[in-house]
Amino acid sequence: MRDIKVRLGKRTYCIKIGSSILSKTGKYILRLSIGQNAIIITNSKIKRLYGSILEKSLAKSGISYSLFTVPDSESSKSYTVMDDLIGKIAMADKGKKPFIIAFGGGVIGDLAGFVAAVYRRGVPLVQIPTTLVAQVDSAIGGKVAIDLPVAKNLMGAFYQPKIVIADTSLLKTLPAREIKCGLSEIIKYSIISSRGFFGFLSKKITSLKRMRGKEVKYVIRKCCSIKAGVVNADEKDTKGIRMILNYGHTIGHAIEAASGYKGSYNHGEAVAIGMLAAASISRKINMISEKEVGEIRKLLSRAGLPAKARRFKSSKIFESLSHDKKFTQGINRFVLPVRIGKVRVVKNIPKDIIMDAIKEITA
Ligand SMILES: NC(=O)c1ccc[n+]([C@@H]2O[C@H](COP(=O)([O-])OP(=O)(O)OC[C@H]3O[C@@H](n4cnc5c(N)ncnc54)[C@H](O)[C@@H]3O)[C@@H](O)[C@H]2O)c1
Ligand SMILES: [Zn+2]
Repeated sequence: MRDIKVRLGKRTYCIKIGSSILSKTGKYILRLSIGQNAIIITNSKIKRLYGSILEKSLAKSGISYSLFTVPDSESSKSYTVMDDLIGKIAMADKGKKPFIIAFGGGVIGDLAGFVAAVYRRGVPLVQIPTTLVAQVDSAIGGKVAIDLPVAKNLMGAFYQPKIVIADTSLLKTLPAREIKCGLSEIIKYSIISSRGFFGFLSKKITSLKRMRGKEVKYVIRKCCSIKAGVVNADEKDTKGIRMILNYGHTIGHAIEAASGYKGSYNHGEAVAIGMLAAASISRKINMISEKEVGEIRKLLSRAGLPAKARRFKSSKIFESLSHDKKFTQGINRFVLPVRIGKVRVVKNIPKDIIMDAIKEITA
């Protein structure tokens, strides 16, 4: 199967997608000419499950490596963990410029990516995403970051990897809730860009929930090519194009913030609710039909995603939304579906319409 390319001039890179390709990592890396001194950043769960496959592949290709684990939690995207990690890398690199392998989900990808961006003013980065979210979203596009106490992803950079290696066979061990989280982003891609893909997902959602079958690879490929297309057109999020990837994320982030990121709603669940709220806003301003909103609701529900954030009062979500800088600096902006397969950025939605949509998802 052909690779997907993120086309960014000299920084163009390949996304390799396939089953059991982790064992080819060494071979892929040698072709990049990024050196033979690897620093693997992962957590102990991924190390236990798949570490030996990666280590063997590197050793076979003559690549030396040091492996560091960080705790398995969002809290690893912190200044303290980063500081500790960079100290250990500096001790291990023996004066030679290493490259970094981010081996894990989005937490590892964001943290290791940020370390790669700043260590020695930037060292090459290899993304090996192991969750569905990371394979379809976070490993692609170059946004890397750590969290600060006041907000998520506040300290970050745009730093593209040299290659993304997405081995779909790793997804077999992913917990059901993490699969659902990825499905939420996958459904998002279909709503923002392809009616046909939405139809495909509607047909295959039951088997996709088990992450089995050949459609898994197809779906990951499709999402990667949609995201690659958006990133090619607006790498640094300055042209208003990349913003469409935020469909469902404005109210989704407010739900996550209202839950204090404690996991009562994970990112994918909050985004699913946010996508419904945005569809409802779109309906209220007569941009989308009731029938299509119903179709979105049905697919999200069949994927096992929630439609409501009943644990919160609408006022609490509205308050979190108001803390969002994008929301308060004069004009608010929402990515709203016009129909399934097409979204538009709409400014200045009246507050009472937003409030009504939030009331619906909390009722
Ligand atoms: N940079 C971006 O563009 C971008 C986009 C989306 C999300 N993110 C970030 O990604 C993070 C969320 O990433 P995530 O959803 O991958 O969560 P995660 O990295 O926390 O992984 C979820 C869980 O799955 C486990 N896991 C990973 N791979 C596994 C496997 N193959 N089998 C079994 N268990 C496995 C992890 O150990 C963890 O417990 C957030 O910090 C978010 O901000 C970044
Ligand atoms: Zn997201």
